[in-house]
Amino acid sequence: MRGARILGTGRALPPRVVTNAELTTRMDTTEEWIVQRTGIRERRFVDPGTGASDLGVQASRVAIERAGLTPKDIQFLVFATLSPDMFFPGCGVLVQEKMGMDTIGALDVRTQCTGFLYGLSVAEAYVKAGFYDYVLVIGAEVQSTGMDLSTAGRDVSVIFGDGGGAAVVGPSDPGRGILSSHLHSEGKYARELMAEAPASIEHPRISKEMIDAGRHYGTMNGRYVFTHAVRRFPEVIREALEANGMTLSDLSIVIPHQANLRITQAVAKALEVPPEKVFSNIEKYGNTTAASIPIALDECIEEGRIREGDIVCLAAFGSGFTWASTLIRW
Ligand code: COA
Repeated sequence: MRGARILGTGRALPPRVVTNAELTTRMDTTEEWIVQRTGIRERRFVDPGTGASDLGVQASRVAIERAGLTPKDIQFLVFATLSPDMFFPGCGVLVQEKMGMDTIGALDVRTQCTGFLYGLSVAEAYVKAGFYDYVLVIGAEVQSTGMDLSTAGRDVSVIFGDGGGAAVVGPSDPGRGILSSHLHSEGKYARELMAEAPASIEHPRISKEMIDAGRHYGTMNGRYVFTHAVRRFPEVIREALEANGMTLSDLSIVIPHQANLRITQAVAKALEVPPEKVFSNIEKYGNTTAASIPIALDECIEEGRIREGDIVCLAAFGSGFTWASTLIRW
């Protein structure tokens, strides 16, 4: 079977920077609390009129160009987001239309923070099997329109930001590129990190009472998420290495989902790898859910932190709970 590798990446960050200082004018919080608990100094919020699909398109244009391709070359696309432009249809078809692509298949993935890695595994399988040659994988989020920016929502809303990232996956020699994907879920924790509404089990799905009660905002059991994340990240990274007969010393860099700086630091400690081997850019963008890994990967490549032959591990944990890893020989 042929291999599958990432041919190009791109990212899109809205120009509007929202600092911790700005958040202190909207809710009862402090810059110190946010930095100390999360490592975040600023994040980006979109201006009205920009949806997740727009960030996805912007990132995809760059990724496709860097892959040396045009939108017409893409044969299938996967869009991962928890914040689609509309309840249905998903963002995939919007990207197909906005980029003037042929009537290719467009799949939406909704596994939140692991969405990009779940999407990448689909691309990996399709390309390795010869089903498609070029698959576009997008992770993009507009969190800012779904957060309670008053004091009542401060534990969640200081963490999340908007952004988009994309990667084009294409054929490679066997043994080069994506070596394996490892995907997990544990739905008994679904309610520990969720946005409850609109909800098909409610009649109607959304009502003034539900909105007044804030049931359309994301809620999070922060301590619970933290405890599970610091266990699952190292576990799924080790799983990827073991599956490929490698050890931690083979790793060139880990690019984790940017959940929280303290989680990233705890992962480095648990794996006993130097902190500089675990990439972090959360201080600039906050947690951008499905977008955080492709944004981070794109920055790593741009900064020259990934060279040909490097062993790169992408890893994620989040709402669901879901967790995943992808091991790549660059
Ligand atoms: N500013 C100031 N105070 C805040 C605050 C904010 N933005 N958010 C919460 N607080 C308050 C709480 O109300 C609480 O006050 P109390 O002691 O008077 O009740 C206090 O800070 C401590 O809250 P607690 O929840 O115990 O803090 P924590 O040390 O557990 O940190 C998180 C909270 C959310 C930062 C932490 O649990 C965490 O990092 N969880 C993982 C979150 C994450 O990464 N999510 C993304 C997953 S993909």
